[in-house]
This record gives sequence, structure tokens and C-alpha cells, in this order.
Amino acid sequence: MANKIIVKNASMSFGKLKVLDNISFSVKENEFISIIGPSGCGKTTLLHLIQGFTKQTKGFIKTHGKKGFVFQDHNLFPWKTIQENIEIRNNTKQKIDVILENVGLKPFSDYYPSQVSEGMKQRAGIGRCLAYNSDVILMDEPFGSLDYLTKLKVQEFLTKLWKKKGLTIIFVTHDIDEAIRLSGKIIVLSKLPAKILKIIDVDKSKSNIIKKEVLDLIQNDSDPK
Ligand SMILES: Nc1ncnc2c1ncn2[C@@H]1O[C@H](COP(=O)(O)OP(=O)(O)OP(=O)(O)O)[C@@H](O)[C@H]1O
Ligand SMILES: [Mg+2]
Repeated sequence: MANKIIVKNASMSFGKLKVLDNISFSVKENEFISIIGPSGCGKTTLLHLIQGFTKQTKGFIKTHGKKGFVFQDHNLFPWKTIQENIEIRNNTKQKIDVILENVGLKPFSDYYPSQVSEGMKQRAGIGRCLAYNSDVILMDEPFGSLDYLTKLKVQEFLTKLWKKKGLTIIFVTHDIDEAIRLSGKIIVLSKLPAKILKIIDVDKSKSNIIKKEVLDLIQNDSDPK
């Protein structure tokens, strides 16, 4: 499979603050990769660089395909209905209907964001990426504010959509179980400035071992040396 994202020796500083230190990895078409690391280590910054919101100070980042970004707080316009939030482009009514169907929001197309659940808002955010024809989706802790059961449901929904549409996904999360459940690989970042501690291939039959490995990596890294 072709590479959709290549990050090579990327470093990022904001003034004197070095945030990312020599990050290299690649993501193949239809891969689902999670990024885990301590709070404030630079995960959002890394996604922003890949999306092109900002530019790295060193190294290079190359992406193929059409990128979409899903924010933690869904970023929907409160004055627009779910359908209007999704149809921000010149898409045909038919296409929007298919997207609403895909994200399970067809019956709620005329509702406003304040009238639907948090999980539904996140699904609308994903629908908006599909309206832009995005096949590479960058997700920044999208399910962080969801309760446990809603989270499980939206995770299941995302897994199905990812398979059906052949999406390529980078998913930032604090939740190790979520990363193991969803992804084929997990990139574990160090504390600031973030370096890659390890890229772990996820074998779902070894979830407990992987969870311990991730926890140990983060724990050992945060211990004072
Ligand atoms: N635009 C900016 N200007 C200056 N500093 C910034 C900017 N954006 C981020 N930073 C700094 O970069 C560091 C990493 O921030 P970032 O938001 O990428 O971390 P994060 O890993 O996403 O954290 P969290 O897990 O809490 O979401 C922080 O110290 C932050 O203050
Ligand atoms: Mg962040």
C-alpha cells in the first residue's frame, strides 16, 4: 500500500520552546494509527503540522489525499442544523443524504447541535470531513468528552466507517484502551519535547501486554532521571 503520510525528521519550536524533536514515521493507505503521549507533549502540534495549519521548523512532512480534521470540541456551527453543518460545500442533496446515512444522523438532519448528544456531534464532525471528500482524517482526542458507553458506540461506528471507506486515520488519544481497540499501530511519544519512544504494532489478542508496555514507556520517561 502507498504511503499517505510521511513525516521525516520533523522538529517544531515555538520561539525558545522546543515541542517536537526529530519525529519520523509514515502512515500507509487505510492504516489506522493512534498517537499517545503525556499532556502538553506536542500531539496537537504534530497533527496541526500534518494538516498544514502550521509549518515545522525542521524536517519535512508530505501527505497524499484530501485531509480532514476532527476537533475535540466538534467545532459545529450552533446556528446551523446538523445537515447544514455537513453541507458546507456544493454537495448534491443526494450526496449529503448518503453521508447523513453513513454517520447515522439521517433522522436528526434538522436538529441543531444543542439538540443532539455529544456522540452525535462528533459523528457530524466526521460527516463534515466526508463532505469534503477527505480520505485522510486527523482526529485530535475526538471522543475525550464522551461517557464510556457512548465512546464505545462511536468507536464501533468509526471502525466500520474506516473499513467501509478505506480511510487513513491518525487518532490522538489519552486513552490506551481506545488506542488498542481502534488502531493497528500506536506511536508513543515522550514528554516535551516529544520524541518517538516506540511505534507498537497492535496485536489485539495481546491487549493487556501492549497496555502495560505503553504505560511502562510513559512512566519510565516521566520518572526523574
Ligand atoms: N501556537 C503556539 N504558540 C506557542 N506555544 C504553543 C503553541 N501551540 C502549542 N504550544 C505549546 O506547545 C506545547 C505542546 O502543546 P500541544 O497542544 O501540542 O500538546 P498536546 O500534547 O496536544 O497536549 P494535550 O494532551 O494537553 O492536548 C505546549 O507547551 C504548548 O504551550
Ligand atoms: Mg492536544
